[in-house]
Amino acid sequence: MSAMVDQLGRPIRDLRISVTDRCNFRCTYCMPKEIFGDDYAFLPKDELLSFEEIERFAQIFADLGVKKLRVTGGEPLMRKDISILVGKLLKIDGIEDVGLTTNAVLLRQHAQALYDVGLRRLNISLDALNPEVFGAINGRGVKPDFILSNIDFAQKIGFEIKVNMVVEKGVNESEIIPMATYFKERGIMLRFIEFMDVGNDNGWSFEKVITKKEIYHMLKEIYNIEPAEQHYYGEVAKRYRYQDNGAEVGFITSVSESFCSTCTRARLSSDGKLFTCLFASDGFDLKALIRSNKTDEALVESIRKVWERRADRYSDERTEQTAKNRKKIGMGYIGG
Ligand code: GTP
Ligand code: 5AD
Ligand code: SF4
Ligand code: SF4
Repeated sequence: MSAMVDQLGRPIRDLRISVTDRCNFRCTYCMPKEIFGDDYAFLPKDELLSFEEIERFAQIFADLGVKKLRVTGGEPLMRKDISILVGKLLKIDGIEDVGLTTNAVLLRQHAQALYDVGLRRLNISLDALNPEVFGAINGRGVKPDFILSNIDFAQKIGFEIKVNMVVEKGVNESEIIPMATYFKERGIMLRFIEFMDVGNDNGWSFEKVITKKEIYHMLKEIYNIEPAEQHYYGEVAKRYRYQDNGAEVGFITSVSESFCSTCTRARLSSDGKLFTCLFASDGFDLKALIRSNKTDEALVESIRKVWERRADRYSDERTEQTAKNRKKIGMGYIGG
């Protein structure tokens, strides 16, 4: 099969698969509880892709060049029997790496089963060590100690863990150094994520972003850090190494240093829509095709057309205006 590139010459390498639009958190920056209340209409079950459908898509994407899969949500551990799906994804021809992004609330129940099917990489979201700060961000009053104990639990099983911290001005910048110190001591990579204008409901503005540069200077005052080599082409995080113990820390700089030029990521929503950018307003309905009995060849051709038309570079072009006026899909729905 000939190599497939988009309008900006970018190949497809990663597929982020959202397995549910539901979540047991209501993070202020993602699914604020004022909007995602008790009567919020999440997708009905028959709208979700089945495991068989997800597996079939994953194989088709692998045939088109995808090497890396990431399982996301909402909260992926809320999908029944998730480890069965992960086990199947790990066996797909051409897939070299599978990761899962979770808030770790349900990790204790699922960790061993996920490890047993072959999963090795977990990215865990945690935004603060202070209980009041974290409880307010997650919208459910869940305590950081509970997440930390689940991280310990998964680490003991043998998972390679990264922690994601979304940093928002006026909300959790006081947690930057405590978080850095805590995870440095445990040799776990903490990644600071610049607050992004995903969806239309999270009250984003440039003023609320703490940039990589600011965080870097805060860290530099206390620790000696040096740049670490990139792991792979198009890696999202910029990584640094603490000189004293070799632990790493990273930055995801979607706002201050966009990384669209090497963006090789496609996203599949839980109801089977294909998105070519985190900030897209519409997806291409692959579920409609798979449910009208199209052949693999027909699906390949449709995906190829979508990718070859792709010209997205939202973060390169972001302004206060685009952030406000553009209709964007929600982060909970597309899974980050
Ligand atoms: P690995 O590098 O494989 O560990 O995974 P990852 O960092 O790609 O995945 P993760 O789900 O942990 O994502 C971390 C953060 O990066 C999330 O906030 C994502 O929304 C953000 N992110 C990932 N890919 C993109 C992207 O293509 N564009 C933008 N703007 N942000 C992204
Ligand atoms: N800005 C930055 N990161 C976000 N995430 C969710 N919403 C936002 C946002 N508005 C992060 C989560 C998780 C990852 C998948 O996406 O914290 O770590
Ligand atoms: Fe928070 Fe992730 Fe749930 Fe969004 S999907 S509300 S970021 S835990
Ligand atoms: Fe890729 Fe869109 Fe993110 Fe740019 S903004 S890195 S094109 S997903």
